[in-house]
Amino acid sequence: MPDRTDLALVLTGGSPVVVVETWDEPGFLEMLVQIATQARRDEYRPLFRWAVTDGLQRLDLALEAQPTTADPRDALRHIRAVDKPGIYALLDFHPYLGDPVHVRLLKDIALAARRRRQTVLLVSHRLKLPPELERLAARFEMSLPGEEERARIVQRIAEEWAADSGRPVDIDPHALELLVRNLAGLSTADTERLARNAIIVDGAITASDLPGVMQAKYQLLNRDGVLSYEYDTARFADLGGLSRFKTWLGQRRAAFLGEPEAASLEPPRGVLLVGVQGCGKSLAAKATAGVYGVPLLSLDFGAVYDRYHGESERRLRDSLRMAELMAPCVLWIDEIEKGLASGSGDASGTSQRILGTFLTWLAERRAAVMVVATANDISALPPELVRKGRFDELFFVDLPRREVRQDILEIHLARRGLAPERFDTARLALACEGFSGAELEQAVVSALYAANALGQSPGPGHILAELRRTRPLSVVMRERVAALRAWAEDRTVPAD
Ligand SMILES: Nc1ncnc2c1ncn2[C@@H]1O[C@H](COP(=O)(O)OP(=O)(O)OP(=O)(O)O)[C@@H](O)[C@H]1O
Ligand SMILES: [Mg+2]
Repeated sequence: MPDRTDLALVLTGGSPVVVVETWDEPGFLEMLVQIATQARRDEYRPLFRWAVTDGLQRLDLALEAQPTTADPRDALRHIRAVDKPGIYALLDFHPYLGDPVHVRLLKDIALAARRRRQTVLLVSHRLKLPPELERLAARFEMSLPGEEERARIVQRIAEEWAADSGRPVDIDPHALELLVRNLAGLSTADTERLARNAIIVDGAITASDLPGVMQAKYQLLNRDGVLSYEYDTARFADLGGLSRFKTWLGQRRAAFLGEPEAASLEPPRGVLLVGVQGCGKSLAAKATAGVYGVPLLSLDFGAVYDRYHGESERRLRDSLRMAELMAPCVLWIDEIEKGLASGSGDASGTSQRILGTFLTWLAERRAAVMVVATANDISALPPELVRKGRFDELFFVDLPRREVRQDILEIHLARRGLAPERFDTARLALACEGFSGAELEQAVVSALYAANALGQSPGPGHILAELRRTRPLSVVMRERVAALRAWAEDRTVPAD
């Protein structure tokens, strides 16, 4: 256990204040008690915990808490008055560090600590130390269980379950391997919990446990809320056209998932889909996750912004780290240009830094996070983003050609329980030149309403009537579409 050795060193090293940022408070305290109670007799120091609910309480002995020290100021005064060795773990003290009296009391304690052999541990999920204490403090970080350790944890949980229930856990070896991999980034306690959840349902570890594990993991990790977990993914069959994009993804699937036969291939890192609105860019992002069979996380660049200086980049970095912990996964950044719109003054400074942080990450990262970014408005797209080598490929999603229009009509008819054969879709596809996928879907939906209102069963005539009533995007936004195509000409490859 390298953590235990490290913590023992920090404790004997003489730093009067130690900052411990962790979500695994019970795990940390358990380790702390072990270290403190195993100290040599001549080095033994009493160990206390403090929480605002109970005040100070011995952790190395079963003694009552001292509720008179529940108030943070009283607790610090008490510690300062004790001229004896001791280790004090202050749990969730972070809200009280804003008070100058607390800061000064901590500094008093810290300045006398070496002589008295006292150590104050500040244990919180996140803690910002006031500058007065910065030089007096050390940091301790708990490491997370590695691959082998996780495999041992899952094994142990399975054995415990088998002993309790009187029958062995039915383990699919491939699912077990994926489970162990997917539990990366969690504390020991959380790893145990999710492994137990996966087993409890059916006494087995199978591929069907994995989505639930990923969702639970996401909920444990995503505390800032800039990333969201999209439950709704799609399949290739839901997406008409984009055939080259589909082939491209298909060829990279094994490499992305780290399968042995693709070991020599470079895994894909990201694509940018630029194109005409309503032609399936967002749907393609969802289908990427569906086809790769991995979680879909969406990152809203707009939500990353914070009015406090530096906070926006921290949020973005946290979100990207979070995505890495969820790997393999698809990170979907819809309408990336909206979050990066270059404005004036400070807004654009932040925007530049966000873009810089993102591009650095894109260039450096190694985890299996496949970025699928989409963009509509090329005028707002920063040129750095589309420079060669940033994304693996830039795809242009154009208005669908005839065969694709037919596919799209059939997809949306079938989705509504209608047999496409009854609609002569080949002929309908001729009548909707210049329509986007979204408009084709809309024509199907409206035709169903129209037929219903007439008390008729829906047929090709209803759809045709709807198509004739619509002024398609290619007409309404002729100039924009032309500008997009011209822009895309020498910068992108066609998605279809
Ligand atoms: N190629 C397609 N195949 C099947 N359905 C499509 C296709 N394109 C669009 N649609 C339908 O239109 C809806 C809207 O498409 P989507 O949101 O993917 O377009 P988009 O390119 O992201 O548009 P925007 O630029 O407006 O965000 C989809 O949910 C789907 O129902
Ligand atoms: Mg979209």
